[in-house]
Amino acid sequence: EKGGYDYFMLKEIAEQPKAVSDTLLGRIDGAGQLHLDEIRIPPRVLREADKVVIVACGTAYHAGMIAKYAIEHWTRVPCETELASEFRYRDPILDSRTLVIAISQSGETMDTLMALRHAREQGARVLAICNTNGSTIPRESDAVLYTHAGPEVAVASTKAFLTQLVACYLVALYLGQVRGTKWGDEIQSVIGQLARIGDEVEAVLDTMEPVRELARSLADRDTVLFLGRHVGFPVALEGALKLKELAYMHAEGFAAGELKHGPIALIEKGVPVVVVVPSPRGRSVLHDKIVSNIQEVRARGALTIVIAEEGDTVVEPYADHLVRVPVTPTLLQPLVATVPLQVFACELATARGNEVDQPRNLAKSVTVE
Ligand code: M6R
Repeated sequence: EKGGYDYFMLKEIAEQPKAVSDTLLGRIDGAGQLHLDEIRIPPRVLREADKVVIVACGTAYHAGMIAKYAIEHWTRVPCETELASEFRYRDPILDSRTLVIAISQSGETMDTLMALRHAREQGARVLAICNTNGSTIPRESDAVLYTHAGPEVAVASTKAFLTQLVACYLVALYLGQVRGTKWGDEIQSVIGQLARIGDEVEAVLDTMEPVRELARSLADRDTVLFLGRHVGFPVALEGALKLKELAYMHAEGFAAGELKHGPIALIEKGVPVVVVVPSPRGRSVLHDKIVSNIQEVRARGALTIVIAEEGDTVVEPYADHLVRVPVTPTLLQPLVATVPLQVFACELATARGNEVDQPRNLAKSVTVE
């Protein structure tokens, strides 16, 4: 049932192009219009929503962090993303014009379930983004958008994460479409690029051998740091989480702009630092900033592992290892930039002799608070 792979995780990483395409299936028509009538929240309610709140845990929370950038950019509706375990204990401000999005692969995560129950009690509408048909979270929500990743067996989430991202983009773009924002042209063009993203994920998977080799060469290290900006920041957090849970290494993700506010003190000779570089096109100021950050850590002896778009030559002099990802719109980059980090963590776990599919102390779904 592992389909010829040694681990479910490897199989699930390889299934990502299909998982992503399946999650898009039937939701974009030939004219590039989104059809999400299945969520059965009347467009009027979506037009009147004045706030979006996303709740989730772990990897799903990272998808939610990325969704915030997409929703605020394309819809101009304020959006906050919060750890489900923190959410209801701070008396959040919610009412009937709040759209709450609960993201969960399993649909059974207790903290996320309790957060959505709390939101509904306050009169908010809850949309679940979920991978498991008929599970508790979608059953208790007002609406559901299913991800079509298929069953995810490995404890470390991979294909579910990519499909959660796709679902979040679909919701963000749909909100933009329904509300008619000034980003109409951009939304149209991104929908077109999203429709083809499965091929880009496939292209990344085809070039992963150097990443595996690099991972093996770092098997005896204690620490790996991850840096990103904008949507690259949650990607950095996700890369660090994968490494913790699989390789049992000290791994931390930072917003690159925070370096000078503390984390740079961790940099010493030879520490591997993975940097997720945004596209030099579009928001080029972000790119300039992160290039400075790479220089800063390298000047202090870090071993830089740079994930950058094809054709980005500016980063080349500062990268000890360069991992190329296809050109994508800035907001969609996490769909391709996360994949090398999954492969990296999986290979490091194997090299360290760890149990890849069943890491110590972890359960696939956390049904206690
Ligand atoms: O089933 P859920 O998506 O609600 O699970 C949330 C987290 O427990 C989950 O993403 C966890 O962080 C993964 N093991 C990460 O790989």
